[in-house]
Amino acid sequence: MYLLLKELFTQNPVDQTVTVRGWVKSLRQSKKFSFMVLNDGSQFKDLQIIVDATLENYEEVSKLNIGSSVSVTGLVVASQGKVQGIEMQAKAVEIYSATTEEYPLQKKETSLEYLREIAHLRPRTNTFSSVFRIRHVLAQATHEFFTDNHFAYLHTPIITASDAEGAGEMFRVSTLDLKKPALTPKGEIDFSKDYFARETFLNVSGQLEAETFAVGGLGRVYTFGPTFRSENSNTARHLSEFWMVEPEAAFFTLEDNAKLASNYVKHLITRAMEKCPEELEFLSSRYAPDNLKTLEHVKNSPFQVVTYTDAVKILEDVSKTHKFEYEVKWGIDLQTEHERFLAEQYFKVPTIVTDYPKDIKAFYMKLNEDGKTVRAMDVLVPGIGELIGGSQREENYEKLLKRMTEMKLDPKDYWWYLDLRRFGSVPHSGFGLGFERVVMYITGMTNIRDVIAFPRFPRNAEF
Ligand code: 4AD
Ligand code: MG
Repeated sequence: MYLLLKELFTQNPVDQTVTVRGWVKSLRQSKKFSFMVLNDGSQFKDLQIIVDATLENYEEVSKLNIGSSVSVTGLVVASQGKVQGIEMQAKAVEIYSATTEEYPLQKKETSLEYLREIAHLRPRTNTFSSVFRIRHVLAQATHEFFTDNHFAYLHTPIITASDAEGAGEMFRVSTLDLKKPALTPKGEIDFSKDYFARETFLNVSGQLEAETFAVGGLGRVYTFGPTFRSENSNTARHLSEFWMVEPEAAFFTLEDNAKLASNYVKHLITRAMEKCPEELEFLSSRYAPDNLKTLEHVKNSPFQVVTYTDAVKILEDVSKTHKFEYEVKWGIDLQTEHERFLAEQYFKVPTIVTDYPKDIKAFYMKLNEDGKTVRAMDVLVPGIGELIGGSQREENYEKLLKRMTEMKLDPKDYWWYLDLRRFGSVPHSGFGLGFERVVMYITGMTNIRDVIAFPRFPRNAEF
C-alpha cells in the first residue's frame, strides 16, 4: 500500500507494511544500519527510516546523497525516541535517481539570495515547502471566506483594453511585427492591424469587470487572479506579476468594506495557524522570532481605523522627533516608511487609513462632500505597509465623468463602465488584497520574491 507521509501520519498504521516515496533529506550511516530521513512534500514532518545492513542493495543505499529519490517499503513501528510517533524499518529500497556531488542543495544553510538563483530547486528546502503549503491554505481559505459571505468567484479577463487604475503601467499585448509594424498614413503604428484591431494590455486589476457583475448582476463577487504591472519598482514588496483578490459588493459602504477586509485577514490568519502550525513554527524560528505571537495578537484585536487627515497630523507630530526620509504634509501619498510607522510603532496593529486626497487616488473612488477627499481605504500592516487598497465607488454618472475628464482619461474607453451608472446604479464598494503580500505577512518572510514560485520583476523573467 503506497501512502503519502500525510496519510501515513494520519492513519498511523503501526505493524503494517506500507510503501512511501520521496526524497532523501539526510542519511546517517553506521556499519549495521543507516538512518534515512525522507520527505515527500505532503507535510512538514519527515519520516525516519531505519535501513538495515542486511538489505540486498545496502551498499548502494547507504551512499545515497541528499536529494536522491527513492521508494521504500517497510514496516511501520512506534518510534523509539523521545517524541511519540512512528518510524519505518525498511524491507526494500528502490532507488529512482541518485544525486551526485553537483546537487546544489547539499549544504545545511543556504541563503535566500542564493536560492533565488536556483528557484527551480528551492521547493525542496524546508523554507519553501513550508511557505508554499501555507500559500495553498491561504488560497483555499480565501475561497472559503468569500463563499461563506455569499460572494461568487468571478474569472475576469487577463487581456484587456482599459486601464483599470488609470495609472498607465500596463504591459502591451500585441502580435504586430516589432521590426516592421503596420503604419498609418501619418507614420504611426496602426493598431487596427493588430490582433484585436485595437491596443490591448495585460490587466492591472479585475475591478472594473468585477463591478459589472456586482452592480445588478450577482450582487457580490470576488476575483482571484494574476495581475500585471510594468511599474519600475525593484523592491522587496513589488512584483511585475502578482496575484490579487478583489471582492466587490453592491450596497456596501466604506465601513462595510473595512469590516469585510479585517474579517478576511483574520480568517486567513486563523486558517494558517490551524492547518500549518509546524510550518509557521519553523519559519518563525528561522526568520521572524515574534511572528506567531503577533499573529495571535492580530487575530484577536480590532483593526485601527484613522482618516488620512488624522494620520498626517500624527506623522507631522512624530516627525518633530523621528526622522522620515520623505517629508509629511497633507496631500502627499504616504510612503512605506510612513505606513509602516503607523501600523508598527504608533498603533501596533493593522491600521485602516480612510478618506485620502482625491488627487493621489484612482478616478473611480467616491468623492466626499468636502470635494477634496475620496472614500478610499488602505489597510496597512506591520512589516509590510500596504496590504490592501480599496474604496467605495463613485456611483453618480456626472461626478464619475467629471473625475475622468479631470484625470485626462477618455470616457469613450470606459463607455461600458459608465453605463453601470446609468442603468440601476447603487452604492457599492470593493478592495484588492495583494496575495503575495499577505503570504509575506503571515509567513514572516521579508522578500516578496520568496513567496511566489517564479518571481517576475524588472530585468528578470528567468524560469
Ligand atoms: O492599491 P491597488 O493598486 O488597488 C487596485 O488595484 C484596486 N483596483 C483594488 C480594488 O479596489 N479592487 O492594489 C491592491 C493591492 C495593494 O494593496 C498591494 O497589496 C497589491 O495589490 N499590489 C502589489 N503587490 C505586489 N506587487 C505589486 N507591484 C503590487 N501592486 C499592488
Ligand atoms: Mg494602492
